[in-house]
Amino acid sequence: MKPMRVGLLGLGTVGGGTVEVLRRNREEIARRAGREIVVAMATARDLGKSRPVGLEGIELVAEAEAIVAHPDIEIVVELIGGETRARDLVMAAIAHGKHVVTANKALLAKHGNEIFAQAHARGVMVAFEAAVAGGVPIIKAIREGLTANRIEWIAGIINGTCNYILSEMRDKGLSFDVVLAEAQRLGYAEADPAFDIDGIDAAHKLTILSAIAFGIPMQFDKAYTEGIGRLTAADIRYAEGLGYRIKLLGITRRAPGGIELRVHPTLVPARRLLANVEGVMNAVLVKGDAVGNTMYYGRGAGAEATASAVVADLVDVTRMATADPEHRVPHLAFQPDRLSDTPILPMADVETAYYLRLRALDRPGVLADVTRICAERDISIDAIFQKEAGEGEEQVDVVILTHRTRERDIDSAIAAIQALPTIPAPVVRIRLEELS
Ligand code: NAP
Ligand code: HSE
Repeated sequence: MKPMRVGLLGLGTVGGGTVEVLRRNREEIARRAGREIVVAMATARDLGKSRPVGLEGIELVAEAEAIVAHPDIEIVVELIGGETRARDLVMAAIAHGKHVVTANKALLAKHGNEIFAQAHARGVMVAFEAAVAGGVPIIKAIREGLTANRIEWIAGIINGTCNYILSEMRDKGLSFDVVLAEAQRLGYAEADPAFDIDGIDAAHKLTILSAIAFGIPMQFDKAYTEGIGRLTAADIRYAEGLGYRIKLLGITRRAPGGIELRVHPTLVPARRLLANVEGVMNAVLVKGDAVGNTMYYGRGAGAEATASAVVADLVDVTRMATADPEHRVPHLAFQPDRLSDTPILPMADVETAYYLRLRALDRPGVLADVTRICAERDISIDAIFQKEAGEGEEQVDVVILTHRTRERDIDSAIAAIQALPTIPAPVVRIRLEELS
């Protein structure tokens, strides 16, 4: 089947990340989507600019209109940001019968009602997973995974820049301006960072979440919005002293008389998971009447994290456009004829780190024997300690943490250690995963 041809508007942080992810995972994505997905055409403001991502094989054009109207382009990805030009291009793409993928929450919060109506009339999809919480698939979770529930409320850390600023100020004592500059360098901040700092970006995202949670139109103009600009280090410290962390939260709640839609700095008890979401990470807590509380966590901004959501939308649209209605989402995520025969590893070939506890006779040379056994099997020791023997005791506990190593090597080391005359009891082994 011929590749799905994508036209990309914007080659900045997210556009570049999208090109990179599509290229790097090209085969895997084709196995899931049922067709290869290729960026065939792209545009940016300055086509002469040097970019961190290679653009080989992509036709660069100066006029975005040439992309949205091109007969060979099936999906237009809007990643230029802003409202006016982006709105015109998205509306033009829809009018030309193209599916649209966008990460532009400002566009959707302000013009989403009009855009979705036009897409509905034209029979095309507008997908926007990347518009809320970067790489976290929160749109899919609410729209599909929680569809049985009456959503009661949502509370989320949905601006990575603000969360990054608050975390760095608290943990490293850095000044607001220094941390903001770093967030800009890392590609987290909006083109106008006031959108982040003043809570506007979070309100855009909350408007989208509220619409899909409660089945209401986008109503950004009704959102209460207060940013982090007036927070002081003293407030952060006092809140800590009282057992709270200050987070910029977006909260939308079904209340008796209507729906709350508000973004503001909020004290959250330090013991809550949400209070421990740090840096650019986002987290969204959703309360459904049937499921109770559920939480979705991940990188909320940045090139490849956001591209992850953009590409997921591209795969969804490709499946919709390609497969017959009964086979849109393959049972095993990959197309049935594209499953691979990669083997499941036997446990002996698995690599992980280990905690070992040995009961050892308190004699000279015991530790030397144990470390020699490890060294002979290329097992690198990360930490080792021996508990002091109690009064009159002849045996001591020795605890070893290893670096990552193969299970077959640790099995062999344990067998050799247990065979030592100075080790009177079986070695206790617990696997250790840093999960970093
Ligand atoms: P960016 O780095 O500023 O990139 C914008 C791109 O659009 C640039 O390539 C720019 O061209 C191009 N562009 C701007 N105006 C244009 C115009 N009139 N015609 C053609 N091209 C134009 O922005 P970004 O961070 O990638 O953000 C893109 C969108 O994703 C925004 O809606 C943003 O809110 C959203 N988003 C961003 C993130 C993130 O972490 N950055 C996360 C989620 C969602 P030049 O390169 O030549 O200047
Ligand atoms: N500026 C946004 C943020 C980008 O910091 O969360 C992701 O939407």
